[in-house]
Amino acid sequence: MNIENFFKEIVSLKSLIVLTGSGVSNESGIPTFRGEDGLWKNFRPYELATPAAFERNPKIVWEWYNYRREIILKSKPNLAHYGIKKLEGLMKEFLLITQNVDNLHRDVGSEKMIEIHGNIFRTRCTRCGKINFEKKVYDEKEIPPVCSDCKGLLRPDVVWFGESLNEELLSIAFNFAKKTEGILVVGTSGIVYPAAYLPFIVKEKGGKVFEINIEKTPITEIADLIILRKCNEIFSYFS
Ligand code: OAD
Repeated sequence: MNIENFFKEIVSLKSLIVLTGSGVSNESGIPTFRGEDGLWKNFRPYELATPAAFERNPKIVWEWYNYRREIILKSKPNLAHYGIKKLEGLMKEFLLITQNVDNLHRDVGSEKMIEIHGNIFRTRCTRCGKINFEKKVYDEKEIPPVCSDCKGLLRPDVVWFGESLNEELLSIAFNFAKKTEGILVVGTSGIVYPAAYLPFIVKEKGGKVFEINIEKTPITEIADLIILRKCNEIFSYFS
């Protein structure tokens, strides 16, 4: 389909969800999870992204998150992040739901958004619960970092395997999905739940499903319009 028409259809709606995954940040230089050079190809999720892994060896888990922070801090948002911010300004009702923890949507000024898998630059104290946000890479001797107030161990404020998502954010996402006229799904494999339910809920309630990805996903089957190309390229038609 013609890309200009793709965006025309989207902005003609009254309300829109944009659901993003790691593919959105791939052209910024941040690896996805399941692609050729995906993070889960080179690292074992259960040794790095679970509460048990953190209990066993917080230092190793922190080294991995620190390494990811370093990659992210060297990267810049791309046209997809900017284009999604522009959509926020054009739509009457809008919600960006991102599975990404990299903060790049915030960096371009996205505001009507929720980060359902957390944020890599946020820490949460495992003792007093204090939340802190700091865009930094830790020195090796600071790892694992501790709370400035109570000296408890800090953890990355992200969702790990086996953990539940924040209830409040989930209900915002699902309530919006039930009433929105459309959802644009960008750069996600659509296999991690509950996020992957969202396009199916929109469809069931009569909304339209738009998808941008470099390959087909389980969401493609229900998509009304799909563009199989890199999102940075696609959003260059919308800047
Ligand atoms: P995946 O690695 O599963 O999927 C990335 C998707 O982006 C794939 O469908 C790619 O085809 C697509 N993609 C890659 N480059 C692209 C580009 N330039 N333009 C458009 N599409 C592109 O990553 P996610 O779907 O984000 O969860 O994974 C979902 C969750 O699984 C993550 O949030 C993370 C992971 O386990 C947690 O950590 C809780």
